[in-house]
Amino acid sequence: NIIEPASGYLASGLEGKGRMEEPENILAYLERYFDRTSDLSGKSVLITAGPTYEKIDPVRFIGNYSSGKMGYALAEECASRGANVTLVSGPVALSAKSSNINVVSVESAREMLDECQKVFPTSDISIMCAAVADYAPANPSDHKIKREKQDVPTITLVKNPDIAATLGKEKRPEQVLVGFALETDNEAVNASEKLTRKNLDMIVLNSLRDKGACFGTDTNKVSIIRSDKSRTDFALKDKSEVAGDIIDEILKILGKV
Ligand code: C5P
Repeated sequence: NIIEPASGYLASGLEGKGRMEEPENILAYLERYFDRTSDLSGKSVLITAGPTYEKIDPVRFIGNYSSGKMGYALAEECASRGANVTLVSGPVALSAKSSNINVVSVESAREMLDECQKVFPTSDISIMCAAVADYAPANPSDHKIKREKQDVPTITLVKNPDIAATLGKEKRPEQVLVGFALETDNEAVNASEKLTRKNLDMIVLNSLRDKGACFGTDTNKVSIIRSDKSRTDFALKDKSEVAGDIIDEILKILGKV
């Protein structure tokens, strides 16, 4: 009975064909549709999102332009497919809508790593979407640094921990770890190298050369590179649709482990 109204709906979407879609195709479509609402049920997903802020003094920081939109879209997509999501988020102007998303707000890379390590051991899927600052001031001042009369102040930096690489070292064979790479040149080679170095199962490549695919936009154009170095290029899409493509690819990996 469920086929009746749905077939009418589908047939009307078949422009110019003028005939009803084959029943087995309709059934396959419906199965895919309903699978998608529960294909992550029982799974725990860890996602990092947004920038990190590294304190210089109480009113200044080193940060970047990451909006967090891609990470939040991934969190909503995972939650809508039945996952329990922990979203470790740097400072962003977004809020999570689904009640299946537990937002853990952090500021620095160090704090982000600490929060990730708390939940990583029980996470089935971890997606490192945050734009983590590479360096932090070595000695943040606890009072506002005064303007120098003559000299220009020097801020000494120290390297931040690499969260993805740290989790990559702790990863168990049944866990899936996904990273992002934002590249301006030699994109595929650099992304593949990162995938290997950080022990990732998949890396999502954003190219800054693509229009509509950068910080703050609602759209993204990605390529996915897997650990066997196979690659799929996707079209420019809304970030929520990109999130769907990424999750579909992760499910293929999960099916194999
Ligand atoms: O090395 P690069 O910063 O280009 O790597 C990007 C990937 O590594 C992203 O998945 C990002 O979230 C993650 N990353 C991280 N911790 C860092 C730097 C990058 O988790 N300190």
